[in-house]
Amino acid sequence: MSLFRKKSVGILLAQAEESEKGLKRTLNAGNLVALGIGAIIGAGLFVRTAAAAGEHAGPAVTVSFIVAAIGCAFAGLCYAEFASMIPIAGSAYTYAYATMGELIAWIIGWALILEYALGAATVSISWSEYLNILFNKSIPYEWCHSPFESLKDAAGVMHHGIMNIPALFILLLLSALLIKGTKESASVNMIIVIIKVAIVIVFIAIGWGFINPANHTPYFIPADATPALMPNGSSYSYTDFFRHGWGGVLTGAGIVFFAFIGFDAVSTTAQEAKNPKRDMPIGILGSLVICTILYILFSYVLTGVAPYQDFVKAGKEASVAYAIQTYMTGFGWLAKLVSFAILLGFSSVILVMLMGQSRVFYTMSKDGLLPKIFQDLHPKFRTPYKSNMVLFVFVGLFAAFVPVSVAGDLTSIGTLFAFVLVCLGVMIMRKKEPNLKRGFKTPAVPLVPILGMIVCAAMIVSLPNETLLSAFIWMIIGLFIYFLYSRKHSQLIAGGEILPRASDFEK
Ligand code: ALA
Repeated sequence: MSLFRKKSVGILLAQAEESEKGLKRTLNAGNLVALGIGAIIGAGLFVRTAAAAGEHAGPAVTVSFIVAAIGCAFAGLCYAEFASMIPIAGSAYTYAYATMGELIAWIIGWALILEYALGAATVSISWSEYLNILFNKSIPYEWCHSPFESLKDAAGVMHHGIMNIPALFILLLLSALLIKGTKESASVNMIIVIIKVAIVIVFIAIGWGFINPANHTPYFIPADATPALMPNGSSYSYTDFFRHGWGGVLTGAGIVFFAFIGFDAVSTTAQEAKNPKRDMPIGILGSLVICTILYILFSYVLTGVAPYQDFVKAGKEASVAYAIQTYMTGFGWLAKLVSFAILLGFSSVILVMLMGQSRVFYTMSKDGLLPKIFQDLHPKFRTPYKSNMVLFVFVGLFAAFVPVSVAGDLTSIGTLFAFVLVCLGVMIMRKKEPNLKRGFKTPAVPLVPILGMIVCAAMIVSLPNETLLSAFIWMIIGLFIYFLYSRKHSQLIAGGEILPRASDFEK
C-alpha cells in the first residue's frame, strides 16, 4: 500500500454532497468573514505589536505588519482556490490528501494541531493574563501560571505557578458553546467581532489626535538609538542587526505573524457554509484584508501615542491600556473598555481555533486516520461533541501547565508549515486537475504559490531553534501514530473501491 496514495477529488466532492446527513450548512458570507476576523484579531495585535515595536522594529512595526501580510496574502490566495474547489471541512489536511497523498496529509493534519489546539491554548493563557490585569492582579500567582513559571514579588517572596485556572475556565465555557451549536457559536462570535472591531476603530480614531510626531521620527530604529529601560532596571540596546532598521522590521514580522493566524480557519468550516464556492474566498480574503488595514492603522497610532522604548519596560500585554493611561489625558475610561474588549476578543479567537480543530479531526476521523469518536455528532445539536470534549482536555492540559511563549511559537510553526504545503498543493492540483471547477482561481500561478512558499519557509527558519526542535519531536510522535494506527485504519485501504473521476462530479 503506497504511502502516497491520494484521495480522489471525486470522492471528496461526493463526501461534500453527502454532508446533508452530517454537519449543518448554516454559515453565510458575513458569518465567514466574521469567523475569520474572530480568529484573527487577538493576542497578536494586542500583545505582540508592542513587543515587536519595543524590542525590534520601533514605529516601523507597521512595515512588519505589511511584510507578514504579504506572506499571508500569498497563502490566503491559495487557500481560497482550494476552499472554493473542495468544500470539505478538513482545510489544508484535505487539500494535501488530494494532491500529495496520505502520508503528507497526515503530517499536515498533525501540524494543524499545533496551529489550532496550541493556538487556542496560547490565547487562553493570554486571556488569563488580561483577566488578572482587569482584576488588578488579585488572582493568586500560583493559580494563573504554569508550574514552569515563577516570580519574586516586591517583598522578595518567591511564587511558583501550579496551574492556570482562568485559562481552563474560558476553554470549558467555549467548548460548551461549541457543543451547543455552530449557529449559536457563529452568532456569539459575530457579536464579539463587532465589539472588538469597534474598539480597535475607537482607539485609532481617538488616538490619532494624540500622535506625537516626535515618536515617529526616525521611523526605523537607528543602530545608535538610546537604549530602553528593562523592568529589572538594566538597559536594552538596539545595536544588534535584528533590533534596528530592516533587520528589526523582519524580526518584527516574525513576531506579528501570529496576529494573522486564523484566516485559514475559515476554510475548516467549508462543510457548514451555505454557498462554499462563492463564500469561502470572500471569508478568507475579506477577513485578511480588513484585519491588515486595521493592524497597520492600529500600530501606527500605538507607536505614535507612546515612544516605542516604553514598551520594553511597560507590561507588553497591557500595552494599549498603558498608552492610553499614560499619554491620552482624559480617556482613562477608554483604557478599561479596551481591556474588557480585548478579553472578549481573545474569547472569539479561542472559539474559532477550537472549532477549526474539531472540524479537522472530524474529517481525519471520517477518513479512518483518527478514531471514530471524533466524528460522532450530537443527536440533537449535530456538532462533534465528543471531539469538543476530548479537545477541551487536551488543550486544557497545555493551557494549564505550559508557559505561553512555548505554545505561541509552536502555533506559528504549525501554521507556516500548513501554508507552505497549501501553496505547493495549488500548483500540483493545477497540473493534475486542470479542468476542475474552481469558484476562485489563485492569480499568477506558479508565481504566487512559489513566493508564498519562500516567504513562509523564511519565517519558519527565523523561529528559535528550540521551537524547531520541539516541532520536530512533535512530528516524530505523529509519524509513530500514523504507522501504528492510522495507516492500518485508513478508509482508502479498507474501502479499496474504484474511485470516481473528478469529472463525474463537475457541474
Ligand atoms: N491571530 C490570533 C491572535 O492574534 C491567533 O490571537
